[in-house]
Amino acid sequence: MKQFCIRPTIKQLDTVREFCDTYEIKEGDLVFVSNSTYERYFKDKINGAIVVNYRKYGSGEPTDLMVEGIYEEVKDMDYHRVFAIGGGTILDVAKLFALKNISPVVDLYDGKLEVKKEKELILIPTTCGTGSEVTNISILELTTKNTKMGLAVDKLYADEAVLIPELLESLPFRFFATSSIDALIHSIESYTSPKASPFTQIFSLKAMKMILETYKAIAKDGEEARKPLIGQVLLASTYAGIAFGNAGCAAVHAMSYPLGAAYHVPHGEANYAMFTGVYKKYQEIDPDGSIKELNEYLAEILGCKPEEVYEEIEVLLNHLIPKKSLKEYGVKEEELEEFTEVVMTKQGRLMANNYVELDRNTVYGIYKQLYE
Ligand SMILES: [Fe+2]
Repeated sequence: MKQFCIRPTIKQLDTVREFCDTYEIKEGDLVFVSNSTYERYFKDKINGAIVVNYRKYGSGEPTDLMVEGIYEEVKDMDYHRVFAIGGGTILDVAKLFALKNISPVVDLYDGKLEVKKEKELILIPTTCGTGSEVTNISILELTTKNTKMGLAVDKLYADEAVLIPELLESLPFRFFATSSIDALIHSIESYTSPKASPFTQIFSLKAMKMILETYKAIAKDGEEARKPLIGQVLLASTYAGIAFGNAGCAAVHAMSYPLGAAYHVPHGEANYAMFTGVYKKYQEIDPDGSIKELNEYLAEILGCKPEEVYEEIEVLLNHLIPKKSLKEYGVKEEELEEFTEVVMTKQGRLMANNYVELDRNTVYGIYKQLYE
């Protein structure tokens, strides 16, 4: 059986002003927003709400410690709606605050706490990557387990996802680059997932095209070329979110998590470090399944032969961020065993969506090949 659903209501608004007039954020609302976004867009428009600057609780990507810190601050406060305005970190953390039981968050991820939704949840992305606004997944680095884990349950779906291109106007190029590469990889991994359906593949294909066309414009005219296209990339990242929210991500994500957790490599960049290694291996094991259609489609967009698409994607993506070996990130060769162990024992949720089955030796082999 294949199943497809888009759970949150998706709204598109042109401006923050329009958003604030529509939602009238006030007392009884909990708002997750970074200081810079708050100062720039919301300062005079949110009256009486509880505003959480999540950056007070840690830099980088979301961790269990960040969630526990915020929980301590808000646990005795009264709120009914949860708004999150930000990148994947903020959206993933905020999803947990719409639940009744949040702490200890490690127990929540281990399935020891009842997952019960209690508040209304409205998610507003300010990057163009995670697609978190339309998925039922919250990904945290669990510091005690030394890896990232995803909690994927339907109670984590937002009630509404609101797309406001104005919020991305000030997104620095490096965040644009890593977040949109993440979205591109969502669209590709979901396309070749065994859970993909004709419905998810429509969203995957459209997202890939929109993102790669934007990269081609950047390769030709430089970083600024992204600006008129930013609304398109925001839309593409939500499309990719819809696709992988239904069909799942797979080995690229699973294998990037140990790198991201141990060396604090941004999520999209860590995915990029794994991407071609995994897809070349898929191609080698079974060149005739959905990867064949994928490569033909990508070849058309990139203007190359199907057998050259991974090299061509690297050439294009290197205009955004350089592809680095694992060694260049500081990984030591002996750690590759540990990385493999983590992937094989803790990332079953993602590894179940691989295009073809990857066993322990193959995963280790991919890491080894990406090492130097
Ligand atoms: Fe991702």
